[in-house]
Amino acid sequence: PRTAPILVASNRGPVSYTLGEDGSLTARRGGGGLVSGLSAIGPDANAVWVCAALGEGDREAARRAGDSHLNPGDTGGQQVRMLDIAPDVFAAAYNGIANSVLWFIHHLLYQTPVEPVFDAEFADQWAAYEAYNAAFADALAEEAVDEAVVLVQDYHLALVPAMLRERRPDLRIGHFSHTPWAPPDYYRLLPDDVAAGVLRGILGGDRAAFLTERWAGAFADCCAAVLGAEIVRDGDGAATAVRFEGRETRLGVHGLGADADFLRQRSRQADVDERLTSLRAQIGPDRKSIVRVDRTELSKNIVRGLLAYRRLLETHPEWRERVVHVAFAYPSRQDLAVYRDYTERVRRIADEINAEYGTEGWTPVALHVKDDFARSLAAYRLADVALVNPIRDGMNLVAKEVPVVSERGCALVLSREAGAHAELGDDALVVNPYDVEATARALDEALRMSDGERADRTKRLAAAATALPPQAWFLAQLRAL
Ligand code: G6P
Repeated sequence: PRTAPILVASNRGPVSYTLGEDGSLTARRGGGGLVSGLSAIGPDANAVWVCAALGEGDREAARRAGDSHLNPGDTGGQQVRMLDIAPDVFAAAYNGIANSVLWFIHHLLYQTPVEPVFDAEFADQWAAYEAYNAAFADALAEEAVDEAVVLVQDYHLALVPAMLRERRPDLRIGHFSHTPWAPPDYYRLLPDDVAAGVLRGILGGDRAAFLTERWAGAFADCCAAVLGAEIVRDGDGAATAVRFEGRETRLGVHGLGADADFLRQRSRQADVDERLTSLRAQIGPDRKSIVRVDRTELSKNIVRGLLAYRRLLETHPEWRERVVHVAFAYPSRQDLAVYRDYTERVRRIADEINAEYGTEGWTPVALHVKDDFARSLAAYRLADVALVNPIRDGMNLVAKEVPVVSERGCALVLSREAGAHAELGDDALVVNPYDVEATARALDEALRMSDGERADRTKRLAAAATALPPQAWFLAQLRAL
């Protein structure tokens, strides 16, 4: 049925389901930066969101909906079509290629003396990734009215633009990358046909957009290095389009910002107040807090953050008993052993620090691993210092959310490798995420920042962080197509 003039495609949709023993389905809002941004679509009857069933509950919901959309009661009124892709194909595409290969490439996570190894198992996973992308292209081709606009999201769906163009040359197709893009030398770790296939896939669209100019530039560099494509540049040398095989794909940059109205309103609700009270009690009176909030992903650099905090306590004994590191490390991608190991490592180091420095009345690290958005907001409200130190990050919305929600001003220690650095670098304390020593120094400086300076910087950070709220971010992409 061709009904939709606007389509969005992403692996994770705005809702996920759990299946009860009695066969009932419970709907829950999805997580991650991408879903936060796209939720701005709202309950627009003209827009259809195509996503994959991620687990058993989703699959059951997708089966019940058949080829039509999910129950709008579950999705906040959004039209959502959830694809029931065979579990083994999905797992190979999502865990195998998307999260273990493409995510690793773009975040520079491989330990190259031993990884990656592209063997027969990889080849099978790649075939599954192609099949999974084709399933999206089929569904989008079915749903789109003539000349519809299609916004394809992220590294899971890199092949969709070209596949969809083959099926429906009338459509206007854009791709958006929510991750960084790897520089050419690193990108070329991928087997040649895969490296070229991903780029050709995205270049099948009319437009390829990124969170920062840096990632757009890296993509263009890869197109030139791998495909020999011609890069069009503006007067400042920034890449604006890629010409390849007689077609031109425009490049765009849209730095997704925080949703100030939503955050201010949500963070003043009763459940957040409650958590604020218990966090305050946990930290103790007259102590400062260093807050971090992350999904436990290897790219987030939680381990070096803890090491920097340990170093701070070691080199600045005056902070002992006077500060608490509130670290929220929420589970992510626990199907993968490297993520589970990393989570374990985070726990172990937090325990070590507590054993080493803790006293009867003071626990130096308060580590929480159970995902709780209201508690994250409470921590944003009270934080004196926020630590955002990813190895690499497409944007990092936590860095943008904290200044908006903070009550008394919060000093931001920010990795120069986060996309947010392009917009927040002037008023943050900027660190090289690998440099534990420098991060410890930045934490000390942040803790010592005067109230006035903290408040001033936070005001400017909040203004920069909300320059392009999700709704405007989404509309800008539509308009550009
Ligand atoms: C983060 C990234 C997105 C990515 C998402 C996937 O939000 O910024 O680029 O799409 O993670 O996370 P998931 O939990 O769906 O694997």
